[in-house]
This record gives sequence, C-alpha cells and structure tokens, in this order.
Amino acid sequence: MLTRETVNEKLQEVTYPGFTKSIVDFGFVKDIDVNDGVAYVEVEISSSAPEVSAQLKDEITKKLQLLGAQKIDVVIKTPKMPKESSSQGKNIVPHIKNFVMVSSGKGGVGKSTTTTNIAIALAMQGKKVGLLDADIYGPNIPRMMGVEQEQPEIVGNKVKPLLSHGVEVMSMGSLMEEGQSLIWRGAMVMKAIQQLLQDILWSELDVLVIDMPPGTGDAQLTLAQSVPVTAGICVTTPQQVALDDTERSLDMFKKLHIPIAGIVENMSGFISPDTGKEYDIFGKGTTKPLADKFDTIVLGEIPIEPAIREGGDSGKPVTFHNPDSETAKRYMQAATKLWHTIEQINEEGGVDNEAIQPTTPPGVSACSTAGAPEAKPEDDGSCGTGCGCH
Ligand SMILES: Nc1ncnc2c1ncn2[C@@H]1O[C@H](COP(=O)(O)OP(=O)(O)OP(=O)(O)O)[C@@H](O)[C@H]1O
Ligand SMILES: [Mg+2]
Repeated sequence: MLTRETVNEKLQEVTYPGFTKSIVDFGFVKDIDVNDGVAYVEVEISSSAPEVSAQLKDEITKKLQLLGAQKIDVVIKTPKMPKESSSQGKNIVPHIKNFVMVSSGKGGVGKSTTTTNIAIALAMQGKKVGLLDADIYGPNIPRMMGVEQEQPEIVGNKVKPLLSHGVEVMSMGSLMEEGQSLIWRGAMVMKAIQQLLQDILWSELDVLVIDMPPGTGDAQLTLAQSVPVTAGICVTTPQQVALDDTERSLDMFKKLHIPIAGIVENMSGFISPDTGKEYDIFGKGTTKPLADKFDTIVLGEIPIEPAIREGGDSGKPVTFHNPDSETAKRYMQAATKLWHTIEQINEEGGVDNEAIQPTTPPGVSACSTAGAPEAKPEDDGSCGTGCGCH
C-alpha cells in the first residue's frame, strides 16, 4: 500500500552513501506526498557531489517501486557549491579561475622565492596551479623551479607550459636563449605579458600565481587589464626602507581594484641552524601595522634560512623538498590563508577589472598618456609615475 507512512518506512531502508544511518534518521527527508499512485519525496543533503545525489535518487526509486508506486518523483536538494570564481570584466584566459599577483615595492626581497613556494604549497594542498613568471626583465623562476634546462614544447602556434613540482610553469626565461637579455619598451612589455597568458596552453587552473617585476609599472597594469586579478600579495623585508616601498605597492593594488590577500614578511629574523638562536637581521614583526593600515593580514613571517636560498639556486624549493622545515610550514599556512581569502572574495561576488580597462589605443602604454615620459629603450620599462595609479 502506498501511503505517506509506508513511504517513510521504506525510506528507513535507504542509507546515506558511506554511512549506516538512514536518510530518515539523518533528518534529510523533508517532504513526502502521495497522490493517486504518485509518490513525491524531497530530500535535502549536505553533499554537493553529483554522484551522491544520483545514488540516492536511484535507491529511493527502487525502494518505492516495491510499494507499487506508478510514478516516483524524487527531488534531491544540495547545498550551493562554493564559488570558485565569480569575477567579471575582461579575461583573456577565461578557463583560469583565479589569478594571484605577487608584487613588491623593492627588488630582491624574495618575490620569486615566495611565488614559487606558495604555488607549490597550493598544489600540495590539492589545487590545480600554474606559475607565470611575468618578470620579463629578470626571469628567475625556471632556475628556482628546476626547469632551466627544459625546452617547452610548441603545439601549433602555442606553447605548452613546463611541469615541475606539480605546478605548470612558464617564463620568458624558458623562451629565450640562456643569458640573453632583452630591452623592453612599454608596449613590448604589454604584448609579452598578454602572450604569456594567452599563447601558453594553460590547463583549467584553479589558480595562476604570477611573479611580477618589482615596482608598479606596465607589467602590473597590463596584467590587471587583461585578467580579473582575484587577489594581490605583497612581499617585503622588515626594514623601514623596504616598508616605505611596500606601501606604494599596496596602494597600487588599491588603485587597480585588486583585493589584497596579505603581506609576506620575508627575511623576518634569522634562526641560526647550529644554535637555534634567533637574530633580528633586518628586524621582525614590523609589517603588521602596515597590514592593519591596508585592512589586510600578514600572510606569513618567513625567516632567513640558508635552505631557502640553496633550494632556490638548485631548483629544489624548500616547501617540496624540505616539508618539515619551519619555513615550509609557514609557506603552507600562507597558502591556506590565501586560498581562504580567494574563496571569500569569490563568495562576495569576485572582482571586476572593467574599471581599469585601457582608454588608449592598443599597443600604446596607458602610462605614457598620463604625463609620463615615453619609455626609452634604456628605460627599465616602468613609467616611473606609478602606472595605473594616477
Ligand atoms: N627567507 C629567505 N632566506 C634565505 N634566502 C632567501 C630568503 N628569501 C629569499 N632568499 C634568497 O634571496 C635572493 C633574492 O630572492 P628572490 O630572487 O626571490 O627575490 P625577488 O624579490 O624575486 O628579486 P627580484 O626583484 O630580483 O626579482 C635569492 O637568492 C633567494 O634564494
Ligand atoms: Mg624575482
């Protein structure tokens, strides 16, 4: 007999996949209705995995057929999937869900080291990660990732990224002859960055982490105009002169409408490997007030550790090759915090780079129209006026 009671009883026999408890006992059955031989069942579950819904639907249908129902209508309600990306505006590589820009005010503070280790940490945490070396003036990523000697494969008129430590990698350094230097004009920088995004066969990545040249120049502006940058990270060392430049870098994120995921305080103290004693070489803990000022967090304090430099020089990043080290743990924590922020940003509607689209003709640097001198071949490529910031 097909009644609400018999349906409820039968559903006691349907266990939730992976558990011994029934969907009735779990309290997942929200509604039962029986009308003219038609049974309607509404179930609300806590998993958004499609295979769980399919299995439950199948089992419920089979059980209710035993009661002689002519038609069985099963509705499974699942929670909303967490948003992976909800960004809008221009995106020249729309199959990449999130973009993280790693910047610094000063050179040599450990941007490439941070980018490398955070990218690897995210990959170790199960994300599909790409690492783009957008520092076309000084591409160090191939060495740090240990792919210096590798030649990328060309497929048609595109280039396959290299694969290292679970991360897809591309750098201008992998596309140029070793030791060659290029002189970049503003417009060439913009074109190079766009090609590194568009003409590389990146997979459907959860996140592309991008190592920028130091400062606030054409590369930063081009990137922000080409893709909606989900979050920015700023790397600094603790001494005051570095912090002054870091403030400019954070201000650039603000002006480019890039949410700031946090600051990495690198070279934050030195722990002597033999005695374990801690020395404040450049200082330590000085970044927090700056983070507060920009309403962001310190993603991690990374001490000076010889293993980091050795790992960078030998292409064996510390997070992968020395995961028990204190620094590896801190990079892992920084990656967790970063991902949490990315999820939060997407939950809140993502980013939109529409407002920072160029108003200049293609190929003409947006900075050069704002009173900045035209980039000369010997220029370092940055307009010097804090491009995109005026
Ligand atoms: N915490 C650290 N402990 C020890 N060595 C470090 C640490 N961070 C960075 N280094 C070393 O310092 C040097 C500079 O770091 P890195 O190349 O990452 O800086 P950068 O900001 O990318 O520089 P650039 O502005 O030239 O691109 C490298 O040799 C690197 O291995
Ligand atoms: Mg670098």
